[in-house]
Amino acid sequence: MTQAAAWEAEYTTTGAGETKALAARLGALLQRGDLLLLTGELGAGKTTFTQGLGEGMGVRPGIISPTFVLVREHPNMAGGPDLVHVDAYRLGSEGEVDDIDLEASMDRSVTVVEWGAGLVEHLSDSRLEITLVRAVGRASSGPDGPGTDFSAEDTDEERLIRLAGYGPRWATAPDLG
Ligand SMILES: Nc1ncnc2c1ncn2[C@@H]1O[C@H](COP(=O)(O)OP(=O)(O)OP(=O)(O)O)[C@@H](O)[C@H]1O
Ligand SMILES: [Mg+2]
Repeated sequence: MTQAAAWEAEYTTTGAGETKALAARLGALLQRGDLLLLTGELGAGKTTFTQGLGEGMGVRPGIISPTFVLVREHPNMAGGPDLVHVDAYRLGSEGEVDDIDLEASMDRSVTVVEWGAGLVEHLSDSRLEITLVRAVGRASSGPDGPGTDFSAEDTDEERLIRLAGYGPRWATAPDLG
């Protein structure tokens, strides 16, 4: 779908905690029927961002990478919408997306799709696209040289987080403080 974003906003975080905090502020503003697409390379922080969304929405904790399960539904404990968390990494076409029938839960839930770009836009007339970009020059290639930081997976790093709104629901940017 060739459609221009209504707006774009950029944020920088310096660690997973900050990314979750930003996402939690967004999560508190989400409504039933919202569709969010998360884009970014392996380990960019898509699941981390989704954990923050869940906190802000008040859904039951325990959001993990759904890689081996395509869809996980997290019930809301505060009366708000449930969070439907999808990993579309292994889905190859819009047809395969239709097979998992996200439409059935869309209207009553917030649907968040990792690797959803190019696959799930047809599910809604509006969507929020979130792109996480890993900064270049990471800690693991610092003064000690590459390969010496064995805890790199959980090392706090900088991420550029870009939000872009499409369609009537996201006509204006959310105020994330
Ligand atoms: N600023 C940051 N924001 C988010 N995560 C960060 C940040 N800095 C470091 N990290 C780390 O990066 C990793 C992100 O992993 P996460 O599973 O969220 O990525 P992902 O994009 O979902 O990966 P995948 O494509 O495998 O699903 C975590 O280990 C997290 O602690
Ligand atoms: Mg993930």
